[in-house]
Amino acid sequence: MLGIESSCDETGVALFHPQRGLLAHALHSQAQMHAEYGGVVPELASRDHIRRLLPLVRQVLADAGASLAHIAAVAYTEGPGLAGALLVGAGLAHGFAFALGVPVIGVHHLEGHLLSPLLSARPPEFPFVALLVSGGHTQLMRVDGVGRYALLGETVDDAAGEAFDKTAQVLGLGYPGGPALAAFAQSGIAGRFSLPRPKMASDDLEFSFSGLKTAVATTLRKNAVDAQGRADLAAEFQQSVVDVLVSKSLRAVEASGWKRLVVAGGVGANQRLRECLGSAAAVRGVDLFFPEQRFCTDNGAMIALAGALRLKAAGHAGAFGVRPRWDLGTLEAS
Ligand code: KG4
Ligand code: ZN
Repeated sequence: MLGIESSCDETGVALFHPQRGLLAHALHSQAQMHAEYGGVVPELASRDHIRRLLPLVRQVLADAGASLAHIAAVAYTEGPGLAGALLVGAGLAHGFAFALGVPVIGVHHLEGHLLSPLLSARPPEFPFVALLVSGGHTQLMRVDGVGRYALLGETVDDAAGEAFDKTAQVLGLGYPGGPALAAFAQSGIAGRFSLPRPKMASDDLEFSFSGLKTAVATTLRKNAVDAQGRADLAAEFQQSVVDVLVSKSLRAVEASGWKRLVVAGGVGANQRLRECLGSAAAVRGVDLFFPEQRFCTDNGAMIALAGALRLKAAGHAGAFGVRPRWDLGTLEAS
């Protein structure tokens, strides 16, 4: 299965074999290109995907010691994402499939993230509770099997990754904000400033992160904050997001009656989240699964894997198209 990811600012390509696993994967991040604009410029993203995709496919085939003739099916990210960027991947995937006479299948980007821990040496068994934390989504899902997802709760405003990105901007850390803020927070101490833990005490499984960015901006405005203070503020912000994510995830696991929690999406790369969730899960006897660090953020491997599982379940290929907006809860098992 050749997997193609082009929903946002990463071009990802991978070759996956249902029995032998991941054969090769390659990634190009556009982060540097978008950095000077402080965020993703959709038109530039699309054009860069066009430039990068074919060389990445060639690289992946070479790394796997394979040729075009070895491609038995093609999977691409059908949505959600930037329409123009998605169309680049869809066009290439359908072109390959047509030329090679193989099936093509459109994959839901979040399903790719959800299933990405299955690429690990110790994959989780179904069913499990999943915390999906990316730049566009913060959701708790109940996962009974491939394509069997039920939404338990989600953010009512900003996603966790979005909150990291916006707060990084407020702190003058540039783009992409999540990794920059996490790195900056290492030299700070959480608790020197006090930020709220939004919705942590509420019984539901909803999140709200937009107020945190405002709280950081207000603290900066009202205090004379030096460089150390900014790092302390970053650390406190990160701890607030982590505390809320840990608390709600464990609440969802408890309510499910299962003892398995999977974390997926870009914010899953956050070290502090990994530490705190790790110790909280251990205390409660919850088995915790993270994707490998390199498969937390967008990549082609998770799309190839999800495509392979989907094609097996559905047994048929899909029509040409992209879905810039696409609710994961509307997916069916096959
Ligand atoms: O899953 P992803 O690559 O793309 C989406 O599907 O959105 O997630 C990207 C998000 C961005 O908001 C980025 O700032 C955040 O994940 N992120 C992080 C870290 N690495 C990426 N947030 C906090 N700490 C990190 N280490
Ligand atoms: Zn993503």
